[in-house]
Amino acid sequence: MKKTLRYLKPYSGTVVVGLILKFIGAVAELFLPLLLEYIINNVATNAELNEASKRNMIIYLGIAMLGCSLAALLGNVFANRLTVKSSGNMTHDLRYDLFSKTCYLNSKQVDLFGVPSLISRLTSDSYYVNQMVARTLRLGVRAPILILGGTILAFWRDPVLACVLLGCIPLVGIVIYVITKKSVPIYFGVQKKQDDMVRKVQENVTGVRVIKALDKGDHETEGFDKLVKELAAEEFKANKVMSLSHPLATLILNIGLVAIIVVGAFRGTKSGTVLAFLQYFVIILNAMIALSKIFVVISRGSASAARIEKVLDANVSESPLICPKSDMGCKIRFENVSFSYNGVKDNLRDLSFDIYPGQTLGIIGATGSGKSTIINLMMRFYDVSGGAIYIDDRDVRSYSIKELRKKFGVAFQNDFLMAASIRENVDYGRNLSDEQINEAIDAAQAREFVDELEGGLDFKLVQKANNLSGGQKQRILIARALAAYPEILVLDDSSSALDYETDASLRKALNKSGGDMTKVIVAQRISAIRHADLILVMDDGEVIGKGTHEQLMDSCDEYKLIYSTQMGGENA
Ligand SMILES: Nc1ncnc2c1ncn2[C@@H]1O[C@H](COP(=O)(O)OP(=O)(O)O)[C@@H](O)[C@H]1O
Ligand SMILES: [Mg+2]
Repeated sequence: MKKTLRYLKPYSGTVVVGLILKFIGAVAELFLPLLLEYIINNVATNAELNEASKRNMIIYLGIAMLGCSLAALLGNVFANRLTVKSSGNMTHDLRYDLFSKTCYLNSKQVDLFGVPSLISRLTSDSYYVNQMVARTLRLGVRAPILILGGTILAFWRDPVLACVLLGCIPLVGIVIYVITKKSVPIYFGVQKKQDDMVRKVQENVTGVRVIKALDKGDHETEGFDKLVKELAAEEFKANKVMSLSHPLATLILNIGLVAIIVVGAFRGTKSGTVLAFLQYFVIILNAMIALSKIFVVISRGSASAARIEKVLDANVSESPLICPKSDMGCKIRFENVSFSYNGVKDNLRDLSFDIYPGQTLGIIGATGSGKSTIINLMMRFYDVSGGAIYIDDRDVRSYSIKELRKKFGVAFQNDFLMAASIRENVDYGRNLSDEQINEAIDAAQAREFVDELEGGLDFKLVQKANNLSGGQKQRILIARALAAYPEILVLDDSSSALDYETDASLRKALNKSGGDMTKVIVAQRISAIRHADLILVMDDGEVIGKGTHEQLMDSCDEYKLIYSTQMGGENA
């Protein structure tokens, strides 16, 4: 919570001015009953004053009451504005940091938090923190001043009546305490259900095509409906409990009012004083109810703050290892690498290979055999569990993440394209020259269709680039990977949607333009990798074949099998 609250520090000036205004407003409000009492006790019912001076005094005191009301109103309005401003600014900064931190989380951390949970931390949790700060600033000062000031003034005016008032307050306190204590866990339940709903929405939005293809729309709608109903039920439960507090407090309030009138009548208390007491009573009780609401908001907000801080505290900048540089001259070297995502089963076992600058590494194998895992480790999205990986003869753990990633240009199979122009998608914020972009478009074999689009490079893609075909999307992604002349080009299953002819032209273009670029090509098709300098045949995390196409045709039965199935009807 401390860390979150520190975000308020830059706005402490605004906060302090706001609180001072709140204080002035609250004090002005406390003066009203005093003035009223004075008018009734000392002016209106005073036999020694004549009518004219009575009238004059009532007018002056009336103006003073109006002034107090105005001060209370204005103080509150302006303070609330400042509060909204400072809590809004604070939430903005918090979200900004949270978002940038989220972007820098490593893949293992993202797996741990879970994407839906990261989304709700960025959206609903930061909203709850905002509500906590805003409400606390709005009522956190005002309510205690009203309670404390009201009680002190009441004692000053009439200690006996004040004792009656004080007798009722603990009752209200108990009611509010019990209700709040009951409702807080229920609110946490609501929060959890909201998370579930966000997760469901996210799953459905990302999986909308599969859902449609499998005609599971009804099934998903039912599932969603169930979640929404559960959420509504939970909210209903919370509100049912919370809604008790107001009527119960009002009941106690009314009993207290009656008690004050009765005791006042017995003791012959002046009517103005009784009236002032009634007002203090209402002010104090309302302040107590307001305070109870703050407690709910605070418990919800602090739970959210804790969730946010977990992300903010995640350690993303492990200091690079200090390792000696070798002089093998390898571009990429895997040395007995093993890796497991969950620490239970190895997803990669004892993998070793060397690739020299300008060479091409081909990786082939069934889905789930560990091809992308090799890429993930090479780019250090995850750290190896055993062995070591060297890029340019340096352990990948000895690079800063930025330095390492700069060496790569990557296109993943289902990579995302932004809803922006083709140019912006290829450039991706790197301020590339037109020449670089056009070269990349050419090499990626995208020229032909880009020129036919309205506006060419300025053609706007819709969300997820759904106005392009699968093969066209892949070519834009390849162009993006190529555009900054990376040292290592990684194409992870990213030419699968290209026809054989385009795929072949792409390979030719890469060989021609990217002579000194090292290439890592993951493919399902032998034709895409057959000219590679080294081919790895993967099966369930293990290399079952390693060598050039010719060597594998001699030595690896599985490779031969894939070859014969794929080459049955086509020529590569
Ligand atoms: N983030 C992850 N968390 C846990 N397991 C994963 C993760 N990513 C991949 N795997 C598992 O690792 C294995 C290899 O996956 P992957 O390298 O993506 O296969 P390929 O790219 O060959 O299709 C699969 O069994 C897959 O289920
Ligand atoms: Mg893969």
